[in-house]
Amino acid sequence: MATDLAIRVEPGGMADLPDVMIAMGDAFDPEYGEAWTEAQCAGILGMAGSWLLVARSGEEPAGFALLRTVADEAELLLIAVRNRYRRQGTARALLAQAVEDAAGEGVATLHLEVRDGNPAVDLYRGLGFVQIGMRRAYYRGRSGKVFDALTLEKRLGVN
Ligand SMILES: CC(C)(COP(=O)(O)OP(=O)(O)OC[C@H]1O[C@@H](n2cnc3c(N)ncnc32)[C@H](O)[C@@H]1OP(=O)(O)O)[C@@H](O)C(=O)NCCC(=O)NCCS
Repeated sequence: MATDLAIRVEPGGMADLPDVMIAMGDAFDPEYGEAWTEAQCAGILGMAGSWLLVARSGEEPAGFALLRTVADEAELLLIAVRNRYRRQGTARALLAQAVEDAAGEGVATLHLEVRDGNPAVDLYRGLGFVQIGMRRAYYRGRSGKVFDALTLEKRLGVN
């Protein structure tokens, strides 16, 4: 898959975790406590049903999405795009691939948690996700401040 600026989305694995961590460090503000460590990513990726998508421009990592399927439900655990690759459709391309992968595995619902106030909410809503709940104090930021999370879901096959 390619976007206008030749960003391609490919399936990833453990060998891609260094690139994932480059994007992770670039994308997430430590203020909010949303980023994961490499060990956390490796732990999830080693579990059945987990999958990774990596966006690259040439050899440069641009972003990634990490997901997990349990039965007929998939969860978007993380998505991040490096600053310099933003607003070029990179996250949209990652999510389109994730939806295609999940639908191909018979997944009925894709859900996610996102910090209340994260502009990513606009991305998700634009792709047909709807809010189904809220989790109080779900994220703990660098300074100990806590942030609520919204729970969103998208029924696959429904726009
Ligand atoms: C959220 C994030 C993944 C979006 O990546 P991106 O590649 O810039 O997103 P896209 O270019 O595919 O955006 C698609 C659409 O989503 C919406 N959108 C994306 N970023 C937005 C922002 N900061 N503010 C408002 N709307 C936004 C827009 O509708 C956009 O379409 P447009 O550019 O034509 O207006 C990126 O900003 C990021 O990595 N943020 C930090 C990490 C994070 O918070 N991840 C989500 C929680 S896990």
